[in-house]
Amino acid sequence: MTDPKAALGAPLARLEGRDKVTGRARYANDHTPPGSVFAWPVPATVARGEITAIDDRQALAHPAVLAVLTHLNAPPLAEAEDPTLALLQSPQVAYRGQYVALVVAETLEAARTAAAELRISYRSERHDVVLTDDHPGIYAPELANAGYPADRERGDFDTAFESAEVRTDAVYRIGPLHNHPMEPHAATAVWDGDRLTVYDSCQGGNSVQQTLATLFALPHSQILVISEHVGGGFGSKGTARPQAVLAAMAARTVRRPVKLALPRAQLCAVVGHRAPTVQRVRLAARSDGRLHGVAHEVLTRSSTLSEFVEQAAVPARVMYASPHSRTTHRVVRQDVPAPSWMRAPGECPGMFALESAMDELAQACGLDPIELRLRNEPELEPDSGRPFSSRHLTDCLREGARRFGWYPRDPEPRRRSRGRLLIGSGVAASTYPVYVAPSSAEVRAEADGSFTVLINATDIGTGARTVLAQIAAHVLGVATDRVGVEIGRSDLPPASLAGGSSGTASWGWPVHRAATALREDLARHGEVPAGGLAARAATGAEDLAASRSFARHAFGAQFAEVQVDMDTGETRVRRLLGVFAAGRILNPRTARAQLLGGMIMGQSMALSEHSTLDPEFGDHAERDLASYQVAVHADVTDVQAYWIEEEDPHLNPMGSKGIGELGIVGTAAAITNAVHHATGIRVRDLPATPDVLLGR
Ligand code: MOS
Repeated sequence: MTDPKAALGAPLARLEGRDKVTGRARYANDHTPPGSVFAWPVPATVARGEITAIDDRQALAHPAVLAVLTHLNAPPLAEAEDPTLALLQSPQVAYRGQYVALVVAETLEAARTAAAELRISYRSERHDVVLTDDHPGIYAPELANAGYPADRERGDFDTAFESAEVRTDAVYRIGPLHNHPMEPHAATAVWDGDRLTVYDSCQGGNSVQQTLATLFALPHSQILVISEHVGGGFGSKGTARPQAVLAAMAARTVRRPVKLALPRAQLCAVVGHRAPTVQRVRLAARSDGRLHGVAHEVLTRSSTLSEFVEQAAVPARVMYASPHSRTTHRVVRQDVPAPSWMRAPGECPGMFALESAMDELAQACGLDPIELRLRNEPELEPDSGRPFSSRHLTDCLREGARRFGWYPRDPEPRRRSRGRLLIGSGVAASTYPVYVAPSSAEVRAEADGSFTVLINATDIGTGARTVLAQIAAHVLGVATDRVGVEIGRSDLPPASLAGGSSGTASWGWPVHRAATALREDLARHGEVPAGGLAARAATGAEDLAASRSFARHAFGAQFAEVQVDMDTGETRVRRLLGVFAAGRILNPRTARAQLLGGMIMGQSMALSEHSTLDPEFGDHAERDLASYQVAVHADVTDVQAYWIEEEDPHLNPMGSKGIGELGIVGTAAAITNAVHHATGIRVRDLPATPDVLLGR
């Protein structure tokens, strides 16, 4: 790096890249403290009921088996905020797949074998797992996920809809979707007296530390959570998950370090998933396409254990101008695994419905879908009336159209073919809110000229570590190779979790502040004292409140070209192109990877990811990566992500918006809109598999 000032905005490769590809990077289950033993969890085989008997004689007969933990003998846990973490505390079963036992043994093989030999008897009750639009248990929650009011009304939608010149009214359905990070949820737990160390695969060590402190009734100072490298989470590791709690319980019981990696086939039941949604979107417009009314009504599902309301109607409060609006959420709680966060909760499923509906409206009005969106660009955030801190959706649409070669475009479906392949193009918008949370950081200068950033941030594969080095280098005016970063330990300055695309903003802010203070200290000292020099900084509520008068969101536009084989029904994405506006891009290389990753995950959601909640057994049927199909290399041909330069002074000292989730928002609609353009078939239920396109 020749110009240190160019540290921010440079396409720096990941600092830990070499460690990862050479296997030197240690993930949670790569730690094997001396004397480690292994645990294997046992899921319930009924969807609702009660354990009546446990026969563990055969399991315990294995010489290598150390313990069989069940509700009869497991260490008691205090009550935590998340009821799914009351593990092995009662004989009640709330859903199929809920953990009812944990076998601990000298070897993984013995633990697994003994787990299969446990005989657990249940008194099972009739379970309720089928989501129907008229389920008697449907109710109106107060809040949707992330604290949004469940219902918002502006004007008089019903009258607006009745009197509209053009109307669309359709229901869009998305089944459950699963996070499935490459690294499964894993933990290694070690007790030393009353001190607990957990190597945990998580998105936020301080949040896990807090939860373990509550559950085990220990002061924070006695719990160390280490998550130096994490192989993805997509939301499913945002809060403490069973592996950390079970490993700690087992380690306490057998007085040995315990390693526990949750088997892939059990993840669907115990780490959360994207809740299914049934979304009715009604658009009322004048014949020139200007919206008069928008209604986005969402039905979703949660478990009996907790209320989680996928906030899918929230983006309709942000996207388009209309005098009349209704956005509502309804939920039903059933005997199913608890849903939770999955990449862009709310925006991702919600924008599939809204952006499909906009495509349907464009067709109904005889308008180009980009032109329709341009005509409905709001002056202020429609729901709140606040000004946007920055909003460059129209620039993204125009720039995307130019790069993609959108024009000239014949809007008529089923007009373009190559042999038996029908070809079409589609567009959809992206949006994601700006979130930021209080955090703290330290930056140190050493006498040898090196610097270190210390913060309990978590790099779940995003490049967060690298960007934090860049922020410090930028402020200090030094080359990035002089800056080391220590993250992923709860004894570092506390920081918020890697969720809500908030990491870079939340962690970069105190790093920026501490580096600024250190730079000033260094200027006063003239040179670094022999023992080094350190500065610490934190952000608080007052920092985060400063820009509340603005509506802050990132935006984007995504374009897809598809081909549909009308003999086989197979859809292939020929090209996917996104243009985003997300403030200042701090590292183009890692940012591009985030956006591409989101888009590919969106393609996967559009075309292949499919989960069936089995009505008889009551759990998700596709539980491995052979049956739950995510896009693989061969599915991904030409994906491009670009961004426009966006200056926004109302964000944070770096001027950045989050990018981890933005890329998945709108992708599925862009693809199914392209499928409609190709075939004339409107896919309102995901995924668009061959049977759907062949009308089977
Ligand atoms: Mo993200 S689903 O907020 O980890």
